[in-house]
This record gives sequence, structure tokens and C-alpha cells, in this order.
Amino acid sequence: MAQKTDVPSIVVLGSINMDLVTTTDRRPMPGETVLGTGFAMVPGGKGSNQAIAARRAGGAVQFLGAVGDDVFAAELRRVLTDSRVGVERLRNVDGASGVAAIVVDGGGENSIIVVGGANARMTELSAADLEVIAAADILLCQLEIPIDTVLAGARHARANGTTVLLNPSPAQDLPPELWANVDVAVVNSGEAEQLGTALDPVTHVVVTRGADGADYRGPDGKELSQPSPKVDVIDTTGAGDTFTGALAAAWHRGPEYALTWAGAAGALATTKLGASTSIPTEAEITAALPTQ
Ligand code: RIB
Repeated sequence: MAQKTDVPSIVVLGSINMDLVTTTDRRPMPGETVLGTGFAMVPGGKGSNQAIAARRAGGAVQFLGAVGDDVFAAELRRVLTDSRVGVERLRNVDGASGVAAIVVDGGGENSIIVVGGANARMTELSAADLEVIAAADILLCQLEIPIDTVLAGARHARANGTTVLLNPSPAQDLPPELWANVDVAVVNSGEAEQLGTALDPVTHVVVTRGADGADYRGPDGKELSQPSPKVDVIDTTGAGDTFTGALAAAWHRGPEYALTWAGAAGALATTKLGASTSIPTEAEITAALPTQ
């Protein structure tokens, strides 16, 4: 499909959270208390992370989402504006912003509990939101806002020739109509297993496999596998989001290039603590690309 703009224009319809990150050598078992090694508050949320990743990877990005009226709201807005993500369609609603309680262990693996807050109040898309979706090349969504809103966005995108890229995370049962409006799905291997045949109607499916790279299956039986660059992992939080945002920014260059580009971005994101704090720039991704 021809691009509507020179630089790929990407609208991210999704969540934004304040991540409360504790580090510990070993994550506690049920009923157990362990000592932590550190604590940080880092802006995150799958939508916001993917928006920042797509912007840093070369896209022109608008964010459609909501923050609350609490102490986190201004900082969450600031991380987007500092990254030059458009926030004209970011609303402030009454109550708490989204929050994620994250535990990162000594191997860089995490456990996350998300409390939706303002994200759960993203129940309506205004005429101005729909206009932004219709004008974009790509609509990028996840599942941390109400599914009906994702469906409304995807339906409108499809009707206006905007490519719909869905990262169905956290994985859950979705209405068949949503799958029918998705052009590209990006899932990790656990989500792929959980979703099973639900992914069948999607034309392009990308499955990320952490340090083992990513696989792609497209139309006419086309399949690809891309290895991931080897890095020293500090924290995997946001690595999948960085992969997805970078993939969206490079999608116009074809799946093979986009997977390589996104793989380099995702790997770099594991080398620092935190979600938004670990997303690489276009120059850093370029430097990490495998040499031919
Ligand atoms: O994918 C990582 C993100 O999941 C975190 O930033 C957290 O906010 C949750 O949304």
C-alpha cells in the first residue's frame, strides 16, 4: 500500500503508565518476602513505549490515550513531548493515571501487574481522533485500553486505508471482528501459543522469541526468521514494545528489513533498566544492525 506521507505516520492508540520498578536477585515465591536491590519510577505503558520507540526509530507519531489528574500525569505527558511524540489527542481524565508494579530479577526477567486507571477510561474516540487515524499510514494498538475502543479504531483505520498493526498484549480472547480488521500482528511466543488459530485470519504475523530473534509468516506462504543481535541483558521490560514500535516505523520497507531493524532495536532495549529509558535512537539502531 502506498504511504500517505513521506515519513511513515503512525498513530498509537493505547496505554500510558507510571512503572514502579523494583529490582531483586530473585523474584519472591507466593507468600515469601525477599530483599530488593533498587527502586525506580519510570514512565511506561505499552502504548507510550511503542509510540516513543516508533518516533525514535524514524516515524512521525501521534499518541491517542489518557492520563489522570494525579502526581504522575505531568511526568507521563512530559516523556512523550520530550520524545517528540504528538500529544494533541492525549486527554487528562479525573482520577488515577495507569500504574504498573514491576519486579525485575537478576537475570533481567520481569513480572508485571498493571492497574489501568485512566487507560480504562479510553472508552470513546472523538471525531478528531478518527480524523487522525484516517490520515495516518499505520494505526498501532495493544490491549491495555478497552477492547471496544481498539475495535472502533481498527474498523475506522481499515475503512480509510490505514494499516492496522496490533500487539495483542496482554493476550486475551478478542472478537473475531477485531482480528478481521488487523493487517499485522506482533506477538511473543507465549502469546502466539495462547492465541493459537485466532491469528489465522491475519495477513502478516510476527512472532518474537526473545534472544532467539523473530519469525514472520506472510501472504502466499512467505516465511522468514531473523536472529537477534547478542547483548548483555539487564532488563527485558519494554523490549517487546521497542521491537513493535520500530517494526511499525520500518514496515514500509518490507517485512525482511523491518524485522532486522526491529530486532536490533528490541535487543538494545534490554541493555538498560526501565521501559521508556531504554528505547534506542535511530542512530543507535543503525549502528547495531548486522553487517552484510
Ligand atoms: O511492556 C512493558 C510495559 O507493560 C510496561 O512499561 C508496563 O507499564 C506495562 O504496560
